[in-house]
Parts: sequence; structure tokens; C-alpha cells
Amino acid sequence: MIEWDDTFEPAWWQRGAIYQIYPRSFADGDGDGVGDVRGITAHLDYVVELGAEAIWLSPLFRSPMADFGYDIADFCAVDPLFGTLDDFDRLVAETHARGVRVVLDFVPNHSSDRHPWFEASRSSREDPKRNWYVWRDGAADGGPPNDWRARFAAVGPAWTFDERTGQWYLHSFTPHQPDLNWDNPAVEAAMHAVLRFWLDRRVDGFRLDAIPLIAKDPELRDAGDAPTGPSAPEKVFRPRRRDQDWDTIADRLRGIRRVIDAYEDRMLVGEVYLYDLKRILSYVAGGDRLHLAHNFVFAQLPWDAARFRAAIDDFEAAAAGRAWPAWFLANHDTPRVASRFDEDGQGSTRARAVAVMLYLLRGTPFIYQGEELGLPDAEIPPDRVVDVDGRDPERAPIPWRPPSIAGPGAAFTTGEPWLPLVADAARLNVESQATDPRSTLSLVRRLAALRAATPALQTGGQRTIDAGADVLAWVRDGDGERLLAAVNFSLAPIALRVGGAVGSDATVVLSSDPDRAESDVEADALVLRPSEALVLRPRD
Ligand code: GLC
Repeated sequence: MIEWDDTFEPAWWQRGAIYQIYPRSFADGDGDGVGDVRGITAHLDYVVELGAEAIWLSPLFRSPMADFGYDIADFCAVDPLFGTLDDFDRLVAETHARGVRVVLDFVPNHSSDRHPWFEASRSSREDPKRNWYVWRDGAADGGPPNDWRARFAAVGPAWTFDERTGQWYLHSFTPHQPDLNWDNPAVEAAMHAVLRFWLDRRVDGFRLDAIPLIAKDPELRDAGDAPTGPSAPEKVFRPRRRDQDWDTIADRLRGIRRVIDAYEDRMLVGEVYLYDLKRILSYVAGGDRLHLAHNFVFAQLPWDAARFRAAIDDFEAAAAGRAWPAWFLANHDTPRVASRFDEDGQGSTRARAVAVMLYLLRGTPFIYQGEELGLPDAEIPPDRVVDVDGRDPERAPIPWRPPSIAGPGAAFTTGEPWLPLVADAARLNVESQATDPRSTLSLVRRLAALRAATPALQTGGQRTIDAGADVLAWVRDGDGERLLAAVNFSLAPIALRVGGAVGSDATVVLSSDPDRAESDVEADALVLRPSEALVLRPRD
């Protein structure tokens, strides 16, 4: 249980949502079929209505696009596919003009194999940049130096042999993404300079990509375990490994934090894809490391009320008020909520319930573009597959207008979209949903407005309550206000028993079910509909 503290002044990254934009798929400003910076700038008002305090932009840096921008050939340039640095500066100015911040993806663990640093490094064993990457002789049997595996199953070993100099180089992802050697202080300094380049351009924060990977066993001993990582198949607790999250991590995080703290009011959120809460929390400990860590325990849960409750309670208990939660259930690496939770055809209904959870829980909600539309994964025919790790379905472009009016690109593009759109773009597009009060988009806009108008939802206390096995229920308190949120995880109607948590006379403030009228009710006589999420306020 977290008590309301009326002296708590939230930072910008604690107040509202952070909205993730995957630039390739958000909006195309020049008709080449790939989203770009101008496309984003043209749709900023849309983002404001989702209650976003910030946009987080997946990488738009110069890249050969082997991993769609997570393979960077120049950390300080915008890829021409996305636009120019001038376009970017304009985007920052326009975003700030709306009171919204800009968070960039910072990819510290690796560069592209076409980065000049790597080209120098691989040119000879004597090159001054040789030690900027991780080079080793093969094992005695002629195989790779150790048993480390790449995070993408299709890649296999995390090592590639380079004929030119007769050694192997390490790559935790594809061979086109060689790992930088953070044990070399020159690399750390160069990456800090990258941060300063963008901070000087008024960027407000960074999402640190695959951050546990910048600290590895310097002796490169065998990991002796199954592969791990954001898209690893097994999502269970496992012991710490040698190929990530090494003890050197704390100092490296402190180093990054010092760079940030030389600027005013900046923020760091880490992709800490560990499934051990204590380890996750160590990344945000001490006030001298990260501000936020994405909670991957929460993100991997099955649709089960008790498991969700436990994840929330466990976090609050372990954090003991010293770490701020960063809830998310979707990003560009995971199947979309509407597809993932689609057992019994409940995906789109559950996607709405998820929105209620994200905006009503204490903590920062991270919303992945399209989540507010309840988009499912797109179907990708075999000849359109482009990602090495099966992540195309969740990266389908945003449908902005009905294809019947705007053409097959649904106003995402006037050209040929780089990935197919969702099949139901006619119904799920932004324009149609914006004018339909029953749509998922309308629900999310109401959630955003409710959160913005209710201090108790931003900084209030929180406690989960017993409301039956299939119901997740919690109370938010603060500033003289109390709200109760409840989610029915089952397919049956369930009488809401909240033991007087809101008193007997209450008002339904909002429901994920468009057929539920917002009206006065008797709290203890209320029956939650299948998969419904609702918010109640006591009536005085
Ligand atoms: C992170 C990104 C993912 C990328 C990988 C390598 O997990 O979210 O999209 O492929 O890092 O940079």
C-alpha cells in the first residue's frame, strides 16, 4: 500500500503517459511508404489528446536498417529516410510548444557493422579502434570463443568469424550489430558524447535500449544457459548471467546519469528486460542511476487477475516508495495486446480494459502507438516478412483514415506501405474512431482527460483490494478524492464486492464497456460485465 503524500511534487515523467512512436510506421510525410519525422510533426495534436507528457521515438538515426534503425551507423545523424536534422529540430520545437517532451532511443550496446568505428576496428588487429569492439580468437575446436547466443533465435551464436583478421567479433543481436566494448573507457566517453549531442538539441530524455548488455563478464566465460533478452522464449526467473547485467552495470548507469544531470530536468528509462524484481530495482536505486525501468515482469503476464495483482503488489513492496513504476504491456517487440489476450475472442475488449489499467495505476503508463486504437497484430504474408525476429505484425503502420476515402495506405502513406496494414483498417482507423464515442480511441481520450484532471490518479496513494478471484481492484486516494478501479478478468459477469472501499453510493465515472451508462449506482449491487473495467467514485 502506498499512502498519499501531499508534499510530493511529480516530475514531468511521473504525471502523464509516455507515448512510444515507431517512426517507420507512424505517419509518412513524403509518400515513400515509410514513416518519417515530418509525419510525426504533422500529428502532434493527436498525441496531446492521449494525455502524453512525452513522446519516445524509436531510433531515427542513420542506419542500414538491418534491425530497422537499431543498427546505427552514425549516432548523431538522422537517417535520410526519416528526414534531416532540421526536420528533427522542428519536431522538438513543435513538441515543446505543446508542452510535451521528447525522449530518444539510445542504443549503447552496439553499432551497425557499417559504423566507421567498426569499419576501422575490423580493418586490422593493430587499428586504434580494434578494442572498441569485442574481438577474440576462436575456441580450441575452431568454433566461437564461448557459448553466448544472440538474442534473436534465428541468429544462433553471438559471434561471427571475420576472415580479414582471423578473429571473431561479438554481437548480441544480428551480425550487423557488433557489440561495443564498454570495458574500454574510450567507448564509454564516446557514447556519453552522443548523449550530450542530443541533450544540446533540447532532447528531454532517453530510453536506454537493451541496457543490461553494456556490462558483461570481462573474462567472457560461458553463460551456460538458454538465451535471454526482450524476445527470448522463456520468461521466467533465472539466475544472473555472464553475458549481461554484470556488476559493472551500476557504475556505468551512474556515468550516464551524471551526463544527464548536467542538464535540467532530464529523464532516463531503461529497457531492463530482467525478470528478477530485485535486479530491475537496482537499476533505479540510489537516486544516481535511472529514473524508470520498464517492468518486464508485468509485461509478460498471462491474463490472470491474481498474477496482475501480485505483480503490482510485489513491485510496490520491493520498491518501498523509492522507485516509481513504469507500466507497459506493449511495444514494438511484443505481440499487440488485442492479439495476445485474444483467447475466447476477447482481445479487443481486453485491450480496452488494459487501457484502464495503464492510466489508473500509480506510475507512468507507456503506450505503444496503435494501442489507443485497439489495433491487433497485422497479418504478414510470407513474402512481406522483413524482420529477423518475427516482429512485423506489431509494427504495421497506423491507419489514419478509412481506406475507402484515403486509398489503401489509409492516409499513413500515399505510396506503398512498407508493411501491410491491419485487415480491419476500415473500422480501426483514427478518423472513424475519433468521431465514435464507443471506440477505443474515445475511451483512451477520456482516460487521459480523467487522469489529467485528477491529482489522485497522478500522485495519489494506492492499494489493491480483495474483490474476488477474477477481479483486479484497486483504490487511488489523494487530494481529498478517492477512486476505485476494477477489472473483470473472467468471461462471466461478477458481482463487485469491494467491502465498502467506496461506500455504498457511488458513481460510475467511466467504463470500458460502451453499453454501460455513466450513472449513480449502489456499489455493492454492481455487477461487472465480462472483461469489463470500470472506475467508481464515492458519492457524497
Ligand atoms: C531492443 C529493441 C529491439 C532491438 C534490440 C537491439 O530490444 O527494443 O527492437 O531489436 O534492442 O537493439
